[in-house]
Amino acid sequence: MWKTHETQFWLRGERPERPVRYDESAGLWHVYGYREILTILGRPETFASDVFRITPHHRRPKLDGKDVSMDGMITLMDPPGHTKLRKLISGAFAPKVIAGLEPKIAALTNDLLDQVETDWMDFVATVAFPLPSIVVCDMLGIPGQDRDLFQKWGAGMFERNNQPSQLEKSEEREKEVEKHADSLLQFQAYVAEHAAERRKRPREDLLTALVESPLTDDQAVNFASALLIAGHLNTFMMLGNTVLCLDAYPDVQDQARADRSVIPAVIEESMRFLTPSAALSRATTREVKLGGEEIPADAMLTVWVGAANRDPRVFANPDTFDPGRNSSAHLALGRGIHFCLGAMLARVEGKIVLNILFDRYSSLRTIPDEPPEFLRAALLTGLRKLPLRLS
Ligand code: HEM
Repeated sequence: MWKTHETQFWLRGERPERPVRYDESAGLWHVYGYREILTILGRPETFASDVFRITPHHRRPKLDGKDVSMDGMITLMDPPGHTKLRKLISGAFAPKVIAGLEPKIAALTNDLLDQVETDWMDFVATVAFPLPSIVVCDMLGIPGQDRDLFQKWGAGMFERNNQPSQLEKSEEREKEVEKHADSLLQFQAYVAEHAAERRKRPREDLLTALVESPLTDDQAVNFASALLIAGHLNTFMMLGNTVLCLDAYPDVQDQARADRSVIPAVIEESMRFLTPSAALSRATTREVKLGGEEIPADAMLTVWVGAANRDPRVFANPDTFDPGRNSSAHLALGRGIHFCLGAMLARVEGKIVLNILFDRYSSLRTIPDEPPEFLRAALLTGLRKLPLRLS
């Protein structure tokens, strides 16, 4: 049994009692049901992404008492601002652009694996963590060697043991909020420095395109930061989770090795089975009925896509890892207007990495004395460590 975060009960085969539940102690609504989440993601005018609109003032990231600007953080935006920003940027994720990155991703994966000199590796530290961050840094034109900094800031922002709460104040919770704001600020300052440099000396990269676009300085920096975070954090979790699933289900590993056309289905099923961003956040703009509950206006929702991906009303035997099923209905990449912009890139990275692992090693096995470690993060499902024996 994997040691996943205790809040994620669906990973232990448990089912929610109700698809929607009010959590009095936290002052927010938990949504677990697939159908209910589909409704939420399909109705952005009722379920807004700009959760800071209603979040009590003390929860906004602050520095020296002043609010940290979140303008341009695309996942926290609603139409019409969101629509405009998304249109402006979607060309960078066109299928042709992503397909053009394939040779580079393959070369990078091989370079990272060439550095392994023993008969074992921590797959997270060796490949899963560095690869997506180098790829997204490269798109933006930011030096990939600074990824240690991202790791530190990323951990500060997202490794939060506590679930969000509108009400509950504790020292640990306050510390996590502070650490989040502090890491976010350092991250923004780092990106702002590079953006300023591009303004002076333009290059052929996405950061230059952003600073030369009609976006304000804050928007350009925050969008670039959101991209770095989204592009790297989720993908590193997906890569680790997929390799872990292949270890746990050796028959599937054998099948995918023998028939590489199965790999895309393995990746989709891995995102369903262990959903990297297990929860999304939304805020109601008006009173609404959902899953038999009356939710008031200005309510905060934790939308557990990870739980929806184990909803037996949609996925038969949801606790079995089975790439043979049709997992394309999973919600790991979101739905609707905020559907993941980097979905194709993530899938391409997954496909290339698995193919290269299969080519280079005849077997990949976890090490009983050094079990995989999951992140201590209530809202994420991903590994911080995955030692593998290689042969
Ligand atoms: C397996 C890897 C990935 C997963 C599981 C994932 C998951 C998600 C999810 C669930 C959302 C929707 C958020 C919401 O509705 O609130 C999203 C949005 C987004 N993702 Fe990904 N993502 C992955 C990889 C990537 C990559 C590689 C990039 C870019 C390099 C990326 C960029 C984005 C962006 C920019 C958005 C915001 C879209 C919007 O708000 O319109 N993601 N992602």
